Order: sequence, then C-alpha cells, then structure tokens
Amino acid sequence: MTTSHPIGVFDSGVGGLTVLREIRRELPHEDLLYVADSGHAPYGDKSKDFIESRSTAITEFLLSRGAKAIVVACNTATGAAAKLLRSRYPVPLVAMEPAVKPAVERTCSGVVGVLATRQTLASHNFSVLLQRVGQGADIQLQPCQGLVEHIESGELDGPALRDLLTRYLDPLLERGADMLVLGCTHYPYLTPLIREIAGDGVTVLDSGAAVARQVRRKLDESGLLVPSGRCGREHFWTSGQTARTQRLISQLWGSEILVERLPEPET
Ligand code: SIN
Repeated sequence: MTTSHPIGVFDSGVGGLTVLREIRRELPHEDLLYVADSGHAPYGDKSKDFIESRSTAITEFLLSRGAKAIVVACNTATGAAAKLLRSRYPVPLVAMEPAVKPAVERTCSGVVGVLATRQTLASHNFSVLLQRVGQGADIQLQPCQGLVEHIESGELDGPALRDLLTRYLDPLLERGADMLVLGCTHYPYLTPLIREIAGDGVTVLDSGAAVARQVRRKLDESGLLVPSGRCGREHFWTSGQTARTQRLISQLWGSEILVERLPEPET
C-alpha cells in the first residue's frame, strides 16, 4: 500500500456524501472512492446479517480498487458491521460515532436529543457510547423512520417531510432539548429544516468533520497521507439506478458527477 492509493468511503446511499465533503475539505490532495449502496437503501430497516454482507462486499470492492483505508460513512452500517470489517481487513478503518460527547459537554438545559435509525439506536456500539459519554445528561432517543427515504428521493424539503420531522422533533423540544445530535449521515441535509422547526435556542450537531479529522490521524499514524502538491479526485459507484443516482449525487455534490454501476459480487 502506498500514499498515492485512494481512500474508500461507503454508505447505504447518498448520506455518506456529507462525510465525503468533510474528508475532501480536510484532505484536499487525496483521491476518494465512494460507493452509494442505493439499490439496498435504507439500511435502517434491514437485518444485521444483511448489512454485514453488503458492507463486506462493498469493502472488498473498494479494496480491489486499491483503497488504502476504509470509511464507513453510515451510522447504521457502523453499528451492524464495523466490528466485523475491523477484524477481517488489515487497513485503517474509520467509522461513525454520533456527536453525543460534545452535546453532553455543551448542553445548558441538560437534555440532549439523538435522531437516528432504529438499528443504530439499538446497536451494541451505541449503548457502549451512551455508557461511556452519556452520563450527566438526559439523553432522549428518537428513531426517525422514513427520513432517509425522503433524502434518497432527492426531497430535502416539502410538506410531508416537514410534518414527519415535526413529529420527531416535538417530543424532544417539549422535553427541553437544546442539543440535537444527528446520528445518521443523511440527516445533515435536513439541518436547515431542523433549525427552522427547532428555533434559535437549539444546536444541531453532526460528526462528519470529526470523522474527517480521524481519517487524517489514522493515515498519518500509518504513514499513508499523500504528499501535498496535487488535487485529489473523486470516483463514484452505485448499486441503484445509475442515471437517477448520478443526477442526485450531482445535485448534492454541487457539480456534474459521473457515477458508475457497482459490479455485483461473485457468488
Ligand atoms: C439508513 O440507510 O437507513 C441510514 C444510514 C445511516 O444510518 O447513516
């Protein structure tokens, strides 16, 4: 493995682009590979076995493309599969951790709301995180079924989405939450809407920038940071409908992007 190899990043769909953007900001010289498993999104209502098998297949694809490190840019896949991937593949692997720690440190009301998929909130990883950093605040967990589907269909605002989001936010706000932790990489696309519904006194936290810093640290420790002096490029694949996903990724990334079909794993 050499410094010039790319970093592999994946998510159940387009949510991981919010992490990819932070990695691009933090590491402008690195080449980045991104897989959107849109043909199988959302992961939030799939079994652990299914998510492990998709995460393994995608990681193997990224490694076959020369990835020197893997970023699991999906909270649900982190909860279901990061441990298995770490035990199986000897490359630096960075996964998601909802920003509960900074929320607990910064809350004035003492109430922190966490928005995530049911799978993430029920995962072993998440209960370990709560035991480690959740003491000293009233942490309110809110599973948010249906939000990922809106984002995967390119809808970042609209009456149905507002209604759904309001239904999820109201109990947290009534309880007095002044920190809202986004525990799904899709949700940062809803930050403007969440801010509008929740109002000024509430802070919205996601962990994309922290993960990007962690990627830098891991590459540095392993001597794998690419030298500066070149512009990194991005390369995209999807298991979903290629033309549709290409339009959506281009819209969210903010420039015309070429997206290729993800080859199916051999069985
Ligand atoms: C999902 O695919 O259901 C959500 C992805 C995430 O948890 O980040």
